[in-house]
Amino acid sequence: MSRENSDVLLSVRHLRKFFGINRTAARKMLQEGAGKNDILKKTGVTVAVNDVSFDVERGKIFALIGLSGSGKSTVVRCVNMLQRPSSGEILFEGRDVVRMDKRELYELRRSKISMVFQSFGLMNHRNVLGNVAYGLDVRGVGRGERERRAMEMIELVGLEGWENKSIDDLSGGMKQRVGIARALCNDPELLLMDEPFSALDPLARRDMQFELLSIQKKLGKTIVFITHDIDEAFKMGDTVGIMRDGRVEQLGTPTELALSPANDYVREFLNSIDKTKVLSVRHIMITPSCLIREQADPLTAIREMRVNDVSTAYVIGRGMEFIGIVTLTAALQARLDKLSSVSSIITRDVPQVGHDVLIGDIIGAASDTPFPLAVLDDRGRLEGIVSRAAILSSLS
Ligand SMILES: Nc1ncnc2c1ncn2[C@@H]1O[C@H](COP(=O)(O)OP(=O)(O)O)[C@@H](O)[C@H]1O
Ligand SMILES: [Mg+2]
Repeated sequence: MSRENSDVLLSVRHLRKFFGINRTAARKMLQEGAGKNDILKKTGVTVAVNDVSFDVERGKIFALIGLSGSGKSTVVRCVNMLQRPSSGEILFEGRDVVRMDKRELYELRRSKISMVFQSFGLMNHRNVLGNVAYGLDVRGVGRGERERRAMEMIELVGLEGWENKSIDDLSGGMKQRVGIARALCNDPELLLMDEPFSALDPLARRDMQFELLSIQKKLGKTIVFITHDIDEAFKMGDTVGIMRDGRVEQLGTPTELALSPANDYVREFLNSIDKTKVLSVRHIMITPSCLIREQADPLTAIREMRVNDVSTAYVIGRGMEFIGIVTLTAALQARLDKLSSVSSIITRDVPQVGHDVLIGDIIGAASDTPFPLAVLDDRGRLEGIVSRAAILSSLS
């Protein structure tokens, strides 16, 4: 896949981070191919991040997923230099943050990159408005302006009416709304979110996922989203990176990962996800083998079906537009009835779908009809068909 023309906001290049004293020994063991556990045992050094590279395009959500301890938090902490990388580059708008001086870093954290934590990180002695406006307060923005902007963000996250409430009065979901409003208040280029919804109950969590996606659509922010939940990663991420033991095992869109996992680890990881929410009709449709014209006579239809070893023929018009189907049974009867063409025995109410429809959204339609679904393009031309068997096998 070519990413040359894309607008990359953040590019992480060969990032490594070691924790511990004896790093030279650790590096040497790493070069010799030793694993994270052996290195820790022999040298006392934790290889938290090991040669991680990825790009995040402007306006997109990059989801990083992995088990606890796989290095996700360390990666995001390196992005805004809360942790200094042991080696590698972190290019933000083309500039390496590792080489920035104190002033530039301060500026970066203050106005370009915001962070949202799992534990909310709110100040209990300030009310909702005070928390959201905090960043602007620190920047010296006057009270009127900062409260106006803060109120805008409070409305954006659906908390209007709560601005004067104390943080203690809020539910977990509402606290995280405050966290997001505060992060957005500075109008940052990049939002780093470290397991922002992991502490929430499942319902609040689903609400927040939806909320964040709609905010993202509205504001077009670039987001690095960390989670240990594969469903959440696939729901939120335009691109997903799967981490294990400090490495990225695979990078790709949810569809790419679901269709071609790079190794057994990734396959195992993906086992629990619901593929019907990732794969679309395009991925499972097949070309119908038996096409006939509306004017075809019954014998031709029967022959076509026999040759192709199917019991349904797809009827199309002159411009490939889909008209309906003719079953073998109907064609045999039409032959007995000496009909001159199949046009009167066409079943015309065959369910139709576009190729971008998610498989999860056609399961109902597919189980209600005895025929495969017809996949049509936007001009009504037949592109393919989806059988119930194809849908069922995509579920496994
Ligand atoms: N400040 C630290 N000092 C020592 N080890 C750390 C530190 N931070 C993280 N680690 C270790 O680095 C590894 C990766 O941790 P982390 O990035 O927090 O993983 P995740 O966020 O995926 O759970 C873990 O083995 C963890 O114990
Ligand atoms: Mg973490």
